[in-house]
Amino acid sequence: MTARHRLLVTRKLSPEVEARAARDYDAVFNPGDRTFTTEELIAACQDMDAVLPCHSEAFTAQVIAALPERLRVIANHSVGVDHVDLEAARARGIIVTNTPDVLSDATAEIAILCMLGAARRGAEGHRLVQEGKWDSWSPSFMVGSQVSGKRFGILGMGGVGQAAAARARGFEMEIHYHNRKPLPEVQAKGAIYHETPESLIASSDVLSLHCPATPQTRGIMNAERIAMMPEGAILVNTARGALVDEGALIAALKSRHLFAAGLDVFQTEPGGNPELSALDNVFLLPHIGSATFETRIAMGNRALDNLDAALRGEAPRDRVA
Ligand code: DGY
Repeated sequence: MTARHRLLVTRKLSPEVEARAARDYDAVFNPGDRTFTTEELIAACQDMDAVLPCHSEAFTAQVIAALPERLRVIANHSVGVDHVDLEAARARGIIVTNTPDVLSDATAEIAILCMLGAARRGAEGHRLVQEGKWDSWSPSFMVGSQVSGKRFGILGMGGVGQAAAARARGFEMEIHYHNRKPLPEVQAKGAIYHETPESLIASSDVLSLHCPATPQTRGIMNAERIAMMPEGAILVNTARGALVDEGALIAALKSRHLFAAGLDVFQTEPGGNPELSALDNVFLLPHIGSATFETRIAMGNRALDNLDAALRGEAPRDRVA
């Protein structure tokens, strides 16, 4: 096992994971689960050999430049690494890891929840009953869009995309996808490949985003591409808010070009977008795709496995820089 390296754990993790970190490291925790400011993050890292952050801590080029020489590993408790400037980390020889696979099922569940919540007007209905305002019923009351048998489009057919496809097949949806490359048939399982995002977008009754936020994908759902979605389509985003031009989405929701949107992620987090929140045809969640007891433990263990390997001088399983 590793020597007692100094480890900063930036957020409150599951008790099992914190116990393992405390057993194996000279670990500093954040029991109050406060969000660090940039200055606090830099200060907290100063006497550390490694840090185990979440997507809520931005390791920008400025932060990475201010890390101490002794800090060798950023072992993320997330699959997304858009909060880390990977080039800056590489330039300083800092190892960066993430936690793929273990959150695919939980995130796919939330994608389906967002799809159904948007299609069947889940938020509106919930509000009516909870606020005691449900005072009538008729066949024209709260009519939504049925997803069974429709086309489920997946932008980014990685682990989460494939897990979402498996669940959408349960609704007898026809699966379409775009990826940089087509998947082998054993993974595609009959899903229809589109060579371009535009072709996928135009062919999806429900479009679910599952690609990382990179310079190539930021703002990929802009006004032009949103306009390519079929009339009455539904947009689901459980990946990153940066993928969507929220102004363009709001316009498409207001004009009813889109029937609804189901979103777990936003350009501004925490907080979301008040203009989106003011709409009726949205189903909104506060970035909880991977927030299950089981997945939090699995993510923490995967991050610690990567950290252990890196500090032993071995190749971590999930090295991204
Ligand atoms: C991830 O793992 O990237 C999730 O968004 C939670 O951080």
